[in-house]
Amino acid sequence: MPRHAALTSLTVALVFLFTLCAANTHTRVKFENNAYSDLVVAIHPDVPEDLEIIDRIKSIVTDASEYLHITTRQRAYFGGVSILVPETWQDRPEYESATWETYDTSDVRIAEPNPEFDHNPYVRTFSGCGEKGEYMHLTPGFILDQVPLGSTEVLWGPSGRVFIHEWGHLRYGVFDEYGIPAEGYPNFYFNENGRITVTGCKINTRGYSSNYRTGGRCSMDSATGLPDSECQFFPYLNQGGSGHGSVMYMQFLDAVDHFCDDSDGDHKHNADAPNKQNRVCDGRSTWDVVTSTEDFKAPDGTQINTARAVASTEPTFRVVKARKPRYVLVFDISGSMDSIDDVSINTPRRSLLHQTVYKLVREGIPYGSHVGMVKFDQWATRLLDLTEIVTEEDRQEIADAVPNEANGATCIGCGLMEALEVLSMNGADPAGGIVIILSDGGENAGLSPNLTVATQHAVAAGVTVHSVTYSSSADQRMEEVAASTHGRAFFYSGAANSNSLEEGLREAVRVQNSAAARASSSLQLYSNAVKLEVGQTFNATVLLDSSVGENTEFSFGWTAESGVDWAVTSPSGTVYTNSSVQVFYNHQAKIATLKLQGKAQAGSWLIHVANPAPSAQRVVLTVNSRPSAAEPPITANAWLSNSDLQVWPPKAVVYAEVTQGLSPIVGAHVMATVQGPDNQQNSYILQLRDDGAGADLTRNDGTYSAYFTQFTGVGRYSVSAAVTNPDGQAQLKTSVAGSAAPFQDPSKAPTSTTSYQPVESFERQSAAGVFQLLDYKSEDGFPPSRITDLEVVKVSYTDRTVLLRWTAPGDDYDQGQASQYDMRMSRDTKSLRAGFDRAAPVNGSMVTSGSLTNPVPAGSHEYIQVLVPLTDDKTIVFAVTALDDNGNTGGNSNFVSVTFDYQDSYGEGSDSGSGLSAATIGAIVGGVLGAALIIGASIVIAVKISGSKTRIREIRITPRDNMGADLPPYSGPQGKMDMTAHA
Ligand SMILES: *[C@@H]1O[C@H](CO)[C@@H](O)[C@H](O)[C@H]1NC(C)=O
Ligand SMILES: *[C@@H]1O[C@H](CO)[C@@H](O)[C@H](O)[C@H]1NC(C)=O
Repeated sequence: MPRHAALTSLTVALVFLFTLCAANTHTRVKFENNAYSDLVVAIHPDVPEDLEIIDRIKSIVTDASEYLHITTRQRAYFGGVSILVPETWQDRPEYESATWETYDTSDVRIAEPNPEFDHNPYVRTFSGCGEKGEYMHLTPGFILDQVPLGSTEVLWGPSGRVFIHEWGHLRYGVFDEYGIPAEGYPNFYFNENGRITVTGCKINTRGYSSNYRTGGRCSMDSATGLPDSECQFFPYLNQGGSGHGSVMYMQFLDAVDHFCDDSDGDHKHNADAPNKQNRVCDGRSTWDVVTSTEDFKAPDGTQINTARAVASTEPTFRVVKARKPRYVLVFDISGSMDSIDDVSINTPRRSLLHQTVYKLVREGIPYGSHVGMVKFDQWATRLLDLTEIVTEEDRQEIADAVPNEANGATCIGCGLMEALEVLSMNGADPAGGIVIILSDGGENAGLSPNLTVATQHAVAAGVTVHSVTYSSSADQRMEEVAASTHGRAFFYSGAANSNSLEEGLREAVRVQNSAAARASSSLQLYSNAVKLEVGQTFNATVLLDSSVGENTEFSFGWTAESGVDWAVTSPSGTVYTNSSVQVFYNHQAKIATLKLQGKAQAGSWLIHVANPAPSAQRVVLTVNSRPSAAEPPITANAWLSNSDLQVWPPKAVVYAEVTQGLSPIVGAHVMATVQGPDNQQNSYILQLRDDGAGADLTRNDGTYSAYFTQFTGVGRYSVSAAVTNPDGQAQLKTSVAGSAAPFQDPSKAPTSTTSYQPVESFERQSAAGVFQLLDYKSEDGFPPSRITDLEVVKVSYTDRTVLLRWTAPGDDYDQGQASQYDMRMSRDTKSLRAGFDRAAPVNGSMVTSGSLTNPVPAGSHEYIQVLVPLTDDKTIVFAVTALDDNGNTGGNSNFVSVTFDYQDSYGEGSDSGSGLSAATIGAIVGGVLGAALIIGASIVIAVKISGSKTRIREIRITPRDNMGADLPPYSGPQGKMDMTAHA
């Protein structure tokens, strides 16, 4: 592979990394004239009514605004904030009615503790450097200063400062600069002089290190040569005028008044520390990342919010009360809706649409919702004003309004404008209304108002539009209208064996349910469409777990006049058929639904269908069930990084979050199905992983991710995810995190007690949406992912070997298998960072175990043992990059440092300073090491230590020490202690 090719693609890959589009599409926070407005702080319906919470939110956000203005050097503050009070609280005259504000789209959520974080503030995030996080979670205990551990000010410092630390994660995509050992970011590392150094932002924060339990000197971890996990750095709260530090490091220190930056002053960023900021952002300072976001920079690179003094940084607050969702369903009835996508099934699009929407209204829209309906061809017609679903009769009235017709041209904009009218009736504010618009064709030219114009109106009105395209020839702007209104986009190709039309519509309704409605609405366990030839049968097994089971619905849809024969058998053998009393049947829509009242038996249910018709037909099977009262249900939600892929090569990520309540479920089997643009049977199966590599930001946080790279041409690709627990590997992760937020006094932090509970068998289904690819080239545009989890597993002192580990990327991002690795070493990180290609290569003769030329498949662990040819005890730094068969590379990995130097203990009460080091004795290793992550290696070493009874200064290499060959690839979460988010 020519060297220059690698260099070029390295540059390309880095550019990608920095231009990823924001994954969080729901926030409506605006930034104008240095002020953030439309920030929503929402209180969860389960939080008991307490007006003090509202007052405290106001005071914390007011303090935060002032601190934000200081730390951004007068470039930003909070101007306007809405506080959303739940439906469960009493009405009060001072509450306005919520319009666009909802709990599920809010930026800051006040909710009972997540067991994983207890009362520690954190931000839920799943995407990379510089990208927005999902939301900030604060508990009522934190807001009210009623945390059992002690006062919030003593624990984390002033709450306004904590809020801005979290805001850094949420808005700017910057990460923690302190160590998080449980997540693989150690508290200490070896600097380039071989000295033990505290993981932080700047070098000279003053304090001392000691064992937080005993208060004495720290003892050393023989596997790493670094202080053990009980060793903590205790900063002096009074830094004596220096030690300014960073908002993302120790926000509680009085002197912290800025983010770390690239100047040579008091805030100088330390790119060498093995923290999450450096790993995810490739050594960039937090201020560099903050000022590169769209809030601070125009697309042409000019700064758009220059420093500005303001009279007051105090925000204005509105208190609004949540209301039920308003949906307007908008359907294309143009002539093309008469098309038949599969002649052997002989059913026009309009009939499949009618069947699907009829079923959606009968089963999928929660009680209390308001629903209106519009149809359009070359103009729009209102079918139904907003109607509240209170009774079964209301449902039937709405279902009866669903059109089944096709004629005329296509004016999508006309349909959208009419929907805005429906939401504005009787002088109502349309803001917060939800339009679900379906179309199968391109908009005809010359009709008015067109989709471009109507989209601008929808944006101005604050309405969310979810788009559903039916067939690949649907208008290209359908994804754009969704993206620009904070909506989601879905696609159905017309393939008989896909049910993505129904899945997309259901998801569009579900995603914007109010928090209260969502808690009681049904979950999709199973969804499938099959084409049955004459006389053909189909059987499926559906697992009903005990977290659901209330009001379970088994639904069947068909296309032939003579219907379908079906039977449902319960785990204990009860058989239900069309003649059972619990069946809702509609011949016109061609659907039948078996509705089981109360809690259905947990276990395997058998579904059987047979085609009695004299022709082939399409049969749709779905199973939905509601939570059983006792516990929160297991849920799965899938989504995409971006639906509108304009440039080749695209960065297309599929995500799925699997949780029970707020606790993540790890080790589940998550498979995405991607259906290509043609309505052939082409589909791709993609395994989503929760391994903290490639597209996945954090290991074991319950968010599973993967890149989709198998595009075959321009067009639409529909994606859905199925989650199962086939081999019983899935586990519910509940724990109190060691330090989700940096504690002023680390000895106050609860001890990390991550626990895993087995999860019963379950299955869930979720529509992720559509990728619309607008540009395609047949060249290989996808480099292997950047490696971000390079770690030192073990150093053997006498043999001078270092065992390194990382998660293998693929040929294309995190898919497939790379061709080879390029590993380099250097005396310091600076020269590696400045010129990876000029650093000394680790060549094959230095590799004593593993292979740099024969990578394992993406997602597996790579182990390479390197014999270091240098004989001194100075620091050696390693980095690695993967190459694919076309020489594309993902850029250099994070760095790890090693020394062959040893010391007995570290720190203890004395004024050690974070950059000072104690005496060194013997031989030792350092580097980026998550001891907890490497349970196999640690065990071997622990055995050796206890066997030798004395502190090991030299570990002799024996064949058994060579663990590269026999360590199994990661196969489950046991022994891992990672965190979902960062504080
Ligand atoms: C949409 O309508 C506007 C206003 O009539 C017009 O300027 C614009 O060119 C139209 N766009 C398209 C794509 O037809
Ligand atoms: C199913 O039952 C309904 C009435 O409950 C009946 O009208 C219909 O003909 C039955 N369909 C089949 C295929 O047996």
